[in-house]
Amino acid sequence: MVQNKSLSPKEIVDQLDRYIIGQSKGKRAVAVALRNRYRRNKLPQEIRDEITPKNIILKGPTGVGKTEIARRLARLVGAPFVKVEATKYTEVGYVGRDVESMIRDLVEVAARMIRENKQGEVMQRAETVVEKKIIDAVVAEKKKMATDVPLDILRQQTMVEYKDGKLDNFTIEIEVADVKKPDMQMPMGMDMNIGIDIGNIFGGLMPRRTKRKSMTVAKAREMLVSEESERLIDKDAINAEAIQLAEENGIIFIDEIDKIASAGGGNGPEVSREGVQRDILPIVEGCTVQTKYGPIKTDYILFIAAGAFHISRIQDLIPELQGRFPIRVDLQSLTKDDFYKILTVPENALTKQYADLLRVDHVNLVFEDEALKMVAEIAEQENETSENLGARRLHHIMEVLLEEVSFNATGKKPMKTVTINQKFVKDNMANLMKKTDLKKYVL
Ligand SMILES: Nc1ncnc2c1ncn2[C@@H]1O[C@H](COP(=O)(O)OP(=O)(O)OP(=O)(O)O)[C@@H](O)[C@H]1O
Ligand SMILES: [Mg+2]
Repeated sequence: MVQNKSLSPKEIVDQLDRYIIGQSKGKRAVAVALRNRYRRNKLPQEIRDEITPKNIILKGPTGVGKTEIARRLARLVGAPFVKVEATKYTEVGYVGRDVESMIRDLVEVAARMIRENKQGEVMQRAETVVEKKIIDAVVAEKKKMATDVPLDILRQQTMVEYKDGKLDNFTIEIEVADVKKPDMQMPMGMDMNIGIDIGNIFGGLMPRRTKRKSMTVAKAREMLVSEESERLIDKDAINAEAIQLAEENGIIFIDEIDKIASAGGGNGPEVSREGVQRDILPIVEGCTVQTKYGPIKTDYILFIAAGAFHISRIQDLIPELQGRFPIRVDLQSLTKDDFYKILTVPENALTKQYADLLRVDHVNLVFEDEALKMVAEIAEQENETSENLGARRLHHIMEVLLEEVSFNATGKKPMKTVTINQKFVKDNMANLMKKTDLKKYVL
């Protein structure tokens, strides 16, 4: 079974702290919402039905961690996760029930998780079966060479050689499935989303065809193991488990929700925006959606919506939808202190990423604290004077900062140390700084 951890809200926040700086209100909100779903799930059916799930709206400017919080949360608890942009459904060509595609995508993600998990489980068994088949084939091949070694000894030798990988390039003949699928045309206009795999249906009805092929042991092993594990996996169980995983643990992140809220009446785009809200409503309220894995109930899926709400307000969403998102959290703009921490604290902090990348080319990057404080300050200033990109600004600045080093790293030994100090920042950021008004305070 796919891991299905039930962490307490505090444990969740502690884990999120490893990756996301600040935003403690946002982290608490998602942690509590997730735990509430778990609590609700443990209640008797009658009570459970009476408690409506509490979805969340994260409100805040760009690049402050809205998506990151939701994504990390999902990864932390092994929940299937999809992110959709609400505006996508206002585009031409999207009507009505296409909103349901977010649910189908979620089930698809869940199915992939289950499948990977199962593959891991059956791998050992598949390897054992395949090993026997291959040894048989190798022994058959060796016998052709008129050896007088007794059969049991020959098998034993072969087994040892096989385990040592000495037979990898030995050519054998084996039976493999003839994978040619019946060639069939999809009728035009058929909805590929509902996606029934015609090849599979007919493939299942037709007798399994095999053919003899000669190939190396290594290749045979690869093919047979994938064939065998495919056979060992119970497809119906995957479908059922995928539905269950998505139903009970799924998280859907609806981005740009503010863009489908309408400020003021009118027709035209307004109508379609409100239309999208009305389409989303039943999904958030709990309904049943058909997927190729079976029907799924959306009642327990956790929805996290996000938006900047610069132009529209949360109150501009239709009341029914607002009611389904009772938890509202304002995420804060990030300051230079946050930027400094973002550069250094998270396990995947940018400075660590660049250091890892350049170490491959034998460059040892050493970041001095003072230099990083300067970078943080530049980021804050750039966000104020030009566009506010939030933490995304750091990605840009770091790229500019290290462009030269990155370009000149050749991979030659020995390891060379490059220290990023304040002077380095000044020298390498000169171009960027000319454009803005930074000289006054850093240089
Ligand atoms: N508080 C934070 N702590 C650590 N990293 C952050 C933080 N906020 C943003 N980042 C980093 O900045 C990048 C953008 O963040 P994210 O995608 O969460 O922004 P967002 O709030 O969803 O913005 P948008 O409204 O544009 O979608 C990510 O790489 C993320 O790791
Ligand atoms: Mg985002």
